[in-house]
Amino acid sequence: MTDLFATDNPWELFEQWMTLAKSTASISEPTAMTLATATPQGAPSARVVLLKDVDERGFVFYTNYESRKSRELAENPQAALCFYWMPLDRQVRIRGRVEQVSAEISDEYFASRGREKQVGAWTSKQSCPLETREQFEQELHAMTLKFEDTDPIPRPAHWGGWRVVPQEIEFWIQQPYRLHERRVFTREPDGGWVSGMLYP
Ligand SMILES: Cc1cc2nc3c(=O)[nH]c(=O)nc-3n(C[C@H](O)[C@H](O)[C@H](O)COP(=O)(O)O)c2cc1C
Repeated sequence: MTDLFATDNPWELFEQWMTLAKSTASISEPTAMTLATATPQGAPSARVVLLKDVDERGFVFYTNYESRKSRELAENPQAALCFYWMPLDRQVRIRGRVEQVSAEISDEYFASRGREKQVGAWTSKQSCPLETREQFEQELHAMTLKFEDTDPIPRPAHWGGWRVVPQEIEFWIQQPYRLHERRVFTREPDGGWVSGMLYP
């Protein structure tokens, strides 16, 4: 038996696991998570993003609001997240609806980023076709000059955070002979959680 039973609070369990992942030297990006989205027709796509905030409202990441992922989330506001920490043999899966974080929260996070990243966010038309790398570098240079005398650089309206509000969180630990342990927490209508085990 493992620490899957250590607490009946999925937020606490997630925090314990994330703390462990962050203190594991061989995990270079403990907050990296696969984000799955889908078109309204149900065609899926997935990519890695970084978890930047988590509290009892949900899991927050930042991106371009005109990117493919954001277009899909706007049209079909549901997502799945998956963390995999290989050296720990652990996985966490999350499913839920999404919402944009408030403009104030996005402003605050944008302000905490370095100027190069801020200029990059202004310049990149994320997910749009790009003719040549040189074209992007020229645009980046022009944007850097444009903001030369601007401090602080404001957040572009096309960039901000999404929050995944979990309906279900599953914790998975590898065990010998593929007899893995899985504990799944499901949100109840009153906001509480019920939990149970799943066959491996
Ligand atoms: C480790 C890692 C972390 C990443 N973090 C982010 C992120 O936090 N936000 C983001 O927009 N893209 C991030 N990316 C890039 C995305 O995987 C993806 O290429 C990009 O967001 C465009 O996705 P889309 O075209 O599906 O919208 C990251 C990629 C990797 C490999």
